[in-house]
Amino acid sequence: MPLEVRDVTVRFAGLTALDGVSFTVAPGTVHAVIGPNGAGKSTCFNVLSGVYRATSGSVRYGDAELTALTPHRIAALGVARTFQNIALSRHLPVVDNLMLGRHRLTKAGFVAAGLRLPAARGEAVRHRARVAEIAEFVGIGGLLATPVGLLPYGVQKRVELARALCMEPRLLLLDEPVAGMNGGERAEIAELITAVRDSLGISIVLVEHDMGVVMRLADQVTVLDFGRRIADGPPAEVQGDPQVIRAYLGASEESA
Ligand SMILES: Nc1ncnc2c1ncn2[C@@H]1O[C@H](COP(=O)(O)OP(=O)(O)O)[C@@H](O)[C@H]1O
Ligand SMILES: [Mg+2]
Repeated sequence: MPLEVRDVTVRFAGLTALDGVSFTVAPGTVHAVIGPNGAGKSTCFNVLSGVYRATSGSVRYGDAELTALTPHRIAALGVARTFQNIALSRHLPVVDNLMLGRHRLTKAGFVAAGLRLPAARGEAVRHRARVAEIAEFVGIGGLLATPVGLLPYGVQKRVELARALCMEPRLLLLDEPVAGMNGGERAEIAELITAVRDSLGISIVLVEHDMGVVMRLADQVTVLDFGRRIADGPPAEVQGDPQVIRAYLGASEESA
């Protein structure tokens, strides 16, 4: 089912971070939200995941109005997210971090699992098998026992993606998944995101600063600048849009 963002406005004291933004994420597609620094990308992401409350507007996902729900309830609808800065337990092995992603699906619940009751044990075995499968898919199958903190940054980003997939989402929200990566790592993650869409049929909303990655990867692109939507369409179309070019050139002149 589509995710429909309609006329979303977010105001902070004296500042409009998002100004009447609308876009639709079609099922089974990669939809990128891009824009220069300060454009409102993270704000948009935080509204979709329930971390920020919209001042006005709506976000419909099936029958649910996401702007009225807590992050926890949104996750329970099958909407998983990653974080711009890695949010994993560094001292725990990869497998434990991935199992944390499955708690939404654990019928026996935290308490029974903690007590290692028989029903919980059987369930845990099934979850571990699925976790191993997802780790394999993401290319970290051989690292399940390794503490996350010992892994290189690019691999940690994969673990985070795997943890989100362990929630068995229907919609995946990714905040700057290639930030801090080199060219080779970027291409690999782009390939992985495409595989998530194609093999698992998951819809993906990608918030990204890097234009190159987005243009190769996205089916549809929404461009923000100063909180406003300045373009929306397929990558090739958006890339040549004079307003988009101006926004990016302006931003690089400022930072130069
Ligand atoms: N929690 C907040 N409180 C106040 N201002 C915020 C907050 N979050 C973001 N902003 C402001 O909103 C604008 C958009 O920020 P953000 O969504 O982080 O942009 P981007 O992710 O595109 O760089 C910026 O001017 C930023 O300073
Ligand atoms: Mg941001």
